[in-house]
Amino acid sequence: MAIRKILTEPDPFLRQKSHEVYGVDDETRKLMDDMLDTMYAAPGIGLAAIQVGIPKRIIVIDTSKEEEKKPLYFVNPKIIIKSKNNATYEEGCLSVPGQFAEIERPDKCHINYLDYNGNSQELKAVGLLATCIQHEIDHLEGILFIDYLSKLKKNFIVKKLSKQKKILERIVV
Ligand code: NI
Repeated sequence: MAIRKILTEPDPFLRQKSHEVYGVDDETRKLMDDMLDTMYAAPGIGLAAIQVGIPKRIIVIDTSKEEEKKPLYFVNPKIIIKSKNNATYEEGCLSVPGQFAEIERPDKCHINYLDYNGNSQELKAVGLLATCIQHEIDHLEGILFIDYLSKLKKNFIVKKLSKQKKILERIVV
């Protein structure tokens, strides 16, 4: 188990489409363990592999509010059905640090995926979990939540993050 570095916008890597995973092996499970550690440490409630620089269709999520952790692992998650009704949440993203915006998405989604052991599963998600799953699946397509904002708002955020990055890089050098 290890904490990996989270890539932040702007980074062309985050815009890549992630590849399908063929079979869940020990290497995949090691990556999922690391992703979970990285997500809890951040802290966040969802993380896609591309955010730690691995372009594979893998996401981890834990929306439990209690002390007890309830991690969920999704390999090759695919949305089968989306609800016609929408829900709005104020979203943030570990790859878009310090920025939040209200984003409207379908309030329910039905997905299929492979679990931690490589078994095929289905899940009907509602509420926060449904939003979180859709946000993470977007990452696998190279989409960030700021892409849903107006050009003006998005450009403002990206500029701000670029500046922050330059300052951070200066300290490292
Ligand atoms: Ni995100």
